[in-house]
Amino acid sequence: MALKITVIGTGYLGATHAAAMAELGFEVLGLDVVPEKIEMLQRGEVPMYEPGLEELLRKHVAGIEGSSGRLRFTMDFAEVAAFGDVHFVCVNTPQKHGEYACDMSYVDSAFAQLAPHLTRPALVVGKSTVPVGSADRLARELAAAAPVGADAELAWNPEFLREGLAVQDTLHPDRIVVGVRSTHAEKLLREVYAGPVGEGSPFVVTDFPTAELVKTSANSFLATKISFINAMAEVCEAAGGDVVKLAEALGYDDRIGKKFLRAGIGFGGGCLPKDIRAFMARAGELGADQALTFLREIDSINMRRRGQMVEMAREALGGGSFLGKRVAVLGATFKPDSDDVRDSPALNVAGQIHLQGGQVTVYDPKGMANARRLFPTLGYAETAVEAVRGADVVLHLTEWREFRELDPEALGEVASNRLILDGRNALDPGVWRAASWTYRAMGRPSA
Ligand code: UDX
Repeated sequence: MALKITVIGTGYLGATHAAAMAELGFEVLGLDVVPEKIEMLQRGEVPMYEPGLEELLRKHVAGIEGSSGRLRFTMDFAEVAAFGDVHFVCVNTPQKHGEYACDMSYVDSAFAQLAPHLTRPALVVGKSTVPVGSADRLARELAAAAPVGADAELAWNPEFLREGLAVQDTLHPDRIVVGVRSTHAEKLLREVYAGPVGEGSPFVVTDFPTAELVKTSANSFLATKISFINAMAEVCEAAGGDVVKLAEALGYDDRIGKKFLRAGIGFGGGCLPKDIRAFMARAGELGADQALTFLREIDSINMRRRGQMVEMAREALGGGSFLGKRVAVLGATFKPDSDDVRDSPALNVAGQIHLQGGQVTVYDPKGMANARRLFPTLGYAETAVEAVRGADVVLHLTEWREFRELDPEALGEVASNRLILDGRNALDPGVWRAASWTYRAMGRPSA
């Protein structure tokens, strides 16, 4: 009989994982503790913007016309326990308030609520990003709290999906990593992932700590790559070089590769910043803090970028104060093709300029509602053109395709000053200069 799958926590990770499991042919039951989320999902609506996810959900959610009916949602842990052979835990692990460490309360609560209902053998699979050592503890707690005892087994299966590409990354993962303690657990997970493995996704079997570490070290590596090129951007600013050309030339060395070498205002979002901090905190607890002190520098290079963008804007406006200056900000989300504004460098820059007296008007294709909620005192416009109307300077802070397709000539007619600063090195300087704009980007004073 085909395995029955449950997914606990239906945020970016869980909602996508649940829909993908249904797409792979399994019967799936998703659970969340937020009633509004469950109601939306039951209607086939996605609580956030993620390309392709709504279509995939509607293809499978029971009750929607023409759907496979393989995907249902509930708020009831007893129902989940009775239904599933494999339970994926996909709840979030934010940064603890006021410290670097990871807040495990959602993970702990998911396990605590599920375990007492496990009256038949089940595999519980953690997907959340957790401090190394968590799986070992959770496995013990699970077996102790479940009526079936040791037949409630744990596995750890980190998730590497990128926002904006979540559906593709889940259906066609570039690798599947499973931390397991038995051949039975490995066998079940091979069954779950038979589709992608059949298409060629590598299947890496490890112990618990290694599986947990793959995720945090992958994110640390990516953060390091971005901060490396941003450090080079600082040197280029000082030496009169061009970081975009530098990155291109570095990227031809396939040991280095060209991806994740885009200099600009740096990384943000719900993962990279908090994951590198939680990793440092955990290494400290383990007595290995020296191994990760470099991540402190990665974090500070990254956070410095936001302030440098503010200073670049101040200088471009002639130095002095932002008082009375009108600043258009294109982009609010932490990256394009997402509505996520968590720790967004773009909003951070907009907020700093606003707090220094600038009149900031923000436009973002998908992030407006979330940005307004987080930063209600900023000005917002319904279109890029409206944001730019009357602006003394335009800041390009999230690299949406829509912004690359703007007509500099038309925009120049509404701006009070043809001055654009590219915080993402994503616009074509030639096109803007041809329309008489002064174009300046980070790390390329000479370009
Ligand atoms: C990241 C990891 O990529 C993913 O594997 C993990 O599962 C979750 O964390 P995500 O947060 O969706 O995914 O964003 P990502 O695409 O990694 O970008 C992170 C940030 O880095 C964004 O703010 C982006 O603008 C910035 N970035 C990325 C750069 O500044 N330069 C680059 O070259 C690449």
